Amino acid sequence: MSSFIRSRVRIAAMMVALVGFSGLASGQDRAAVLKERQDTMKEQGKDLKNVKAYLDGKGELAPAKSSATNLTKTTNKIPDLFPRGTEGPNPTGDYAAKPAIWTDWNKFLDAQKTAVAKANALVVALNGGDKGAVQAAYADLGKNGCGACHTTFREKIEK
Ligand code: HEC
Repeated sequence: MSSFIRSRVRIAAMMVALVGFSGLASGQDRAAVLKERQDTMKEQGKDLKNVKAYLDGKGELAPAKSSATNLTKTTNKIPDLFPRGTEGPNPTGDYAAKPAIWTDWNKFLDAQKTAVAKANALVVALNGGDKGAVQAAYADLGKNGCGACHTTFREKIEK
């Protein structure tokens, strides 16, 4: 291969690698992304509360199970909710996505995959029917799944 062709091949490979990191097309898109991100995070908060209600004897097993199953889906789509160029506060301005998400993308993905694994473990525990195991899996997801990512990548906006 001539060096000219080789550099062309290298550029093409780089472009393929960058596709996963696609940015935003317009300001309109940015607002929509921020809204969907916040809505999804809030939904996750509600789902986790449904499991807590079951643990506290204030809710049924069936809604706890469907909430936990939903958590496996919502945690799974987190990477799509954070395209490049969407750092900053969410629509109601309580929290912001830290720029570290994009400078440390692989670490962010690790935190996200950890949350997915722990949501899956929560479903397994709920299906197993041992409340002690559900309590442990619930605490593990909250602290080491959701909480670990928030500590590193989420910022509370002081008002
Ligand atoms: C891989 C990282 C990551 C994981 C995992 C994660 N979050 Fe978040 N979450 C964020 C970031 C970043 C923000 C701030 C950005 C935003 O709110 O738009 C946030 C914001 C939130 C908010 C605030 C939304 C609001 O009202 O403004 C809630 C609630 C929330 N997350 C719940 C959860 C729950 C519950 C889980 C676990 C089931 C979870 N998150 C898992 C990164 C994560």
